[in-house]
Amino acid sequence: MGIAVEHFILQADELGLGTCWMGLFDEKKVKRALGIPRDRKVMALLPLGYFGEALAQRGHSRKTLEEMSSFNGWNMRE
Ligand SMILES: Cc1cc2nc3c(=O)[nH]c(=O)nc-3n(C[C@H](O)[C@H](O)[C@H](O)COP(=O)(O)O)c2cc1C
Repeated sequence: MGIAVEHFILQADELGLGTCWMGLFDEKKVKRALGIPRDRKVMALLPLGYFGEALAQRGHSRKTLEEMSSFNGWNMRE
């Protein structure tokens, strides 16, 4: 399930859409709102949509790959 969700998120990003992996929600309320049968388990929610004007202009600020990863050991780069 995790792999499927991650692929969904990556594809959404590729298409310029915004989404968010949500694992914290009231499952009963979600099932009621979406008409999901009681014997089904809701593992995650993925809202999907276009970025608002402000966020689209500002963009995401991300740490660089070097800042948040290591290879073959702590703080090793090569
Ligand atoms: C397993 C998992 C569950 C998550 N559940 C929630 C959630 O219920 N609500 C929420 O606001 N963010 C949740 N997040 C965090 C967002 O999906 C997202 O990773 C976070 O907001 C950082 O987004 P950014 O990297 O685009 O800034 C969850 C992330 C993961 C990996």
